[in-house]
Amino acid sequence: MPGSERSYGAYLAARDHEGLRRALTSIEAPDARTIRIGDEAYINFASNDYLGLRFHPALLTRAEAWTERYGVGSGASRLVTGNFDLFAGIESKVAALKQKPAALIMASGFQANASVLQALLDRSVLGAEPLVFSDRLNHASIHFGCAASGTRELRYRHCDVTHLDALLHQHRGDARPKFIVTESVFSMDGDVAPLAEIDRLAHEHDTMLIVDDAHATGILGEGGRGLSVEADVVVGTFSKALGSFGAYVTCSATLREYLINRCSGLIYSTALPPPALGAIDAALDLVPSLDAERAHVKDLAERFRLGAKERGFDTGASMTQIVPIIAGGNSAALTLSKRLRGVGYFAMAIRPPTVPAETARLRLAFTAAHTEADVDGLLSALDAPALPRCALG
Ligand SMILES: Cc1ncc(COP(=O)(O)O)c(C=O)c1O
Repeated sequence: MPGSERSYGAYLAARDHEGLRRALTSIEAPDARTIRIGDEAYINFASNDYLGLRFHPALLTRAEAWTERYGVGSGASRLVTGNFDLFAGIESKVAALKQKPAALIMASGFQANASVLQALLDRSVLGAEPLVFSDRLNHASIHFGCAASGTRELRYRHCDVTHLDALLHQHRGDARPKFIVTESVFSMDGDVAPLAEIDRLAHEHDTMLIVDDAHATGILGEGGRGLSVEADVVVGTFSKALGSFGAYVTCSATLREYLINRCSGLIYSTALPPPALGAIDAALDLVPSLDAERAHVKDLAERFRLGAKERGFDTGASMTQIVPIIAGGNSAALTLSKRLRGVGYFAMAIRPPTVPAETARLRLAFTAAHTEADVDGLLSALDAPALPRCALG
């Protein structure tokens, strides 16, 4: 056995010891509301399919039609022969939804953040190492993209514009190119970045604003357009409220051309396959008409937050469809998750390093497929662990 293999084993043993070892669970998902694990069924509060579109007939039909017509794979990267004419139509729909001059489809949100940031922060192009002001709770893929460019982020306290302002002032005389990077809705807290103020600072300091709108697109903003209207560059994904898979960047036409020439994730990766493109295209057609679903999800999340707070639980600064219950220690979060599973509710315990130490939590996500009764049942389960299993009907 090579020495490296022993190191990996030791790493796993240490994770076990700290209660931080992760494992894959085999899941069956018969619909957008429930999952099955082994013989047990659960109401699923751990899905990002916020509009319940995964099983929508319009998405299924177009995915199937495009599969029959174009095949299950695209066969090559977009710069070779994978750039089917389907992309142009989808990109103009994305640009219209996000009110931006141009859009570029990428393979996944992680890949987009990792490789778009690497390209945008490239010092050989910019002429100097850029200054990147980054919310400290930004998604791992954002930190990854900054690291891939060799840039050390200047991390500001979560959603703290006073701290961001102070850092920008500290670097006022520095002529290097400046960037601010933030999520709009934070994936583990469900809170919203103060984007108008951040945008004002970006203008004041001649700084490019990059926003990851992954958890807002489709579910928040007018017509589901998300919350990132002011940003220079928006990255988002089709894997959450839009129900399927893939990602996008919206930006200026020049930046789109630059990314086609410099973004490794686009250049060196196979184009999204036709079934995914069909589902994306159908979801983009549907999203503007889903105001009733968006209002339903908002009401459910609010109902849960109120009920959870009444019961003494800490839901942090959540104001969206993502609601954490911050438990603190890892074992407290795991115990709560287990307790809910025992009565038929699936809620994932999220532990460090995904969230900061001592803030382990349940991350609950409400979707259009849930009912008020699901939320009330979940609330009762939080304070009455001895309840019988919920009825899924
Ligand atoms: C804020 C944020 N950005 C990007 C991603 C990655 O998106 P995808 O699942 O499409 O790779 C996620 C998903 O976990 C996310 O929460």
